[in-house]
Amino acid sequence: MCGIVGYIGTKQAAPIILDGLSRLEYRGYDSAGMAIYDGEKINITKSVGRLKILENLTHGGETMAGICGIGHTRWATHGVPSNVNAHPHFNADGTITVVHNGIIENYIQLRRMLTDKGYQFLSETDTEVLAHLLDYYYKGNPMETVTKVLHRVEGSYALGILFADCPDQIFAARKDSPLVVGQNQDGCFIASDVPAILKYTRKIYYVDNQEIVRLRADHMHFYTVDEEEIQKESVTIDWDANAAEKAGYEHFMLKEMYEQPKTVTDTLLPRIKDNDIVIEELNMTDDELRGIRKIHIVACGSAYHAGMTGKYVIEGLARIPVEVDLASEFRYRNPILEEGAMVVVISQSGETADTLAALREAKARGFQVLGIVNVVGSSIAREADNVMYTWAGPEIAVATTKAYSAQLVALYLLAMKLGRVRGQIKNKEFVAMLGDLRCLPDQIELLLNNKFKIQKFSNRYIGAKDVFFIGRGIDYAISLEGSLKLKEISYIHSEAYAAGELKHGTISLIEEGTLVAAVSTQPDLYAKTISNMVEVKARGAFVLAVTCEENKEIEKAADYVIYIPETNPFFANSLAIIPLQLFGYYVAVGKGCDVDKPRNLAKSVTVE
Ligand code: AGP
Repeated sequence: MCGIVGYIGTKQAAPIILDGLSRLEYRGYDSAGMAIYDGEKINITKSVGRLKILENLTHGGETMAGICGIGHTRWATHGVPSNVNAHPHFNADGTITVVHNGIIENYIQLRRMLTDKGYQFLSETDTEVLAHLLDYYYKGNPMETVTKVLHRVEGSYALGILFADCPDQIFAARKDSPLVVGQNQDGCFIASDVPAILKYTRKIYYVDNQEIVRLRADHMHFYTVDEEEIQKESVTIDWDANAAEKAGYEHFMLKEMYEQPKTVTDTLLPRIKDNDIVIEELNMTDDELRGIRKIHIVACGSAYHAGMTGKYVIEGLARIPVEVDLASEFRYRNPILEEGAMVVVISQSGETADTLAALREAKARGFQVLGIVNVVGSSIAREADNVMYTWAGPEIAVATTKAYSAQLVALYLLAMKLGRVRGQIKNKEFVAMLGDLRCLPDQIELLLNNKFKIQKFSNRYIGAKDVFFIGRGIDYAISLEGSLKLKEISYIHSEAYAAGELKHGTISLIEEGTLVAAVSTQPDLYAKTISNMVEVKARGAFVLAVTCEENKEIEKAADYVIYIPETNPFFANSLAIIPLQLFGYYVAVGKGCDVDKPRNLAKSVTVE
């Protein structure tokens, strides 16, 4: 997510803003900028890349004198990382400037309206619309201007706004994107998150949705978007600075697990319109979608596991044959790609070398490639023919959780879109499935709140040597990801098996007390998986079952059961993976492992 810092007071603003932005670097970004009022005009400096570049450009802020300003680190959404797309954005004469975190969903319409009125745009961003809209409404009253703009825009925003005509105040506003303000004896501050200003004050005000803050050097006032003044209570922060970057969570991984309801919502909702699925990024007509005869999904690691789920869901809902490949295999096995094939590459980072190579291999053979990617402007995003972004925001922990969940949702949407245009899903069923999708964020939250039960269970397996995950169909795909989560952060050996495959060898490894996690979320396969559980129990295994609330039968075969809420079986992975993520996390924590930075691993494998 983007980072915002603003200051108005008696001290030089630029160094404070740079310091604040440096404490927001954990949020991930690709460019940065500042706007400082120097007593006569607003000066703006922006740069692509690390914050250090902006610091060097401004000699630590010294070249940007002034006691009032706003700054920003940008996590690209609309428009690739570039100087011109970096924030702050400004109006034509540079007298109004704005920084923004969020997405202006109606920016295309607003951009068209402003262009028709003669406004000229420099960037590809949605945010620049705000700068010109503020200009459009500005008649000398900044508060009135801000409220008019906020009534026009749709979407999410955290804003910092500076008017050259009124340099004794800065404005902040919030809808859905987080924003805090604070004050000390030297001035007032705005920030996207607490860590940015914790050094200056522990007395924080959390700005709520549709609230505006007017900050002056020695006081701040809160208003509704209808200009009614309101009173707010402050909160005293007792976190240490390091903990604050993780918003109070012990690890980024746990924080990101808890962000999954939001990332599922952010990936889902913009693509559900009037009870239909709209995936504009596909750039394919319904006829072209109907013309697809086979889908090749190519990825690595957890993205590959998401792809495995995609296979079952797309084949189940759209009846299109799907082949899933590890990218490192695909690129060297001289794959057979036939006419009518669609290649889908999945990557959180968008920089995984093998996946990028697979994309290039497919394109070299003349095939269109769809990228399901989290990082805007990444290599895979730039080279894919079409990109379906997973709006998970920057993922810091090496072990992916929220990006994986967002990938699943992107694949559900793709499968349902394909199924609908190909007449495979009846309208009533389609609408019911949309309802199930909309319930996922709350259901994920419910499972996350179960964490203490899972933590207690996990403590039993801190000393485990081998853990097996088994499942059939989609449950096998879930098992693959559950096993990887445990392995990569706790360093405990684990394997995932198609449950029906156990008796073909692996069952010889089961000993007294070996933990076998059986995933059983597919009603048609409940009985089959139970029989596999009985097989391993007979050889001494301790069986953990992850299953749907309706499947009480499983209690006869399981030693410990974690239930997940009811959902469409095609979407069960999104729920069943939550307790498995928590299991891996708490075992690793119990072992004292470096959860966010596991040994030997990198967040993005940019080499073969
Ligand atoms: C997952 O927890 C791992 N960090 C790893 O398997 C990862 O999924 C894989 O390297 C692919 O990365 P990508 O999604 O960025 O391409």
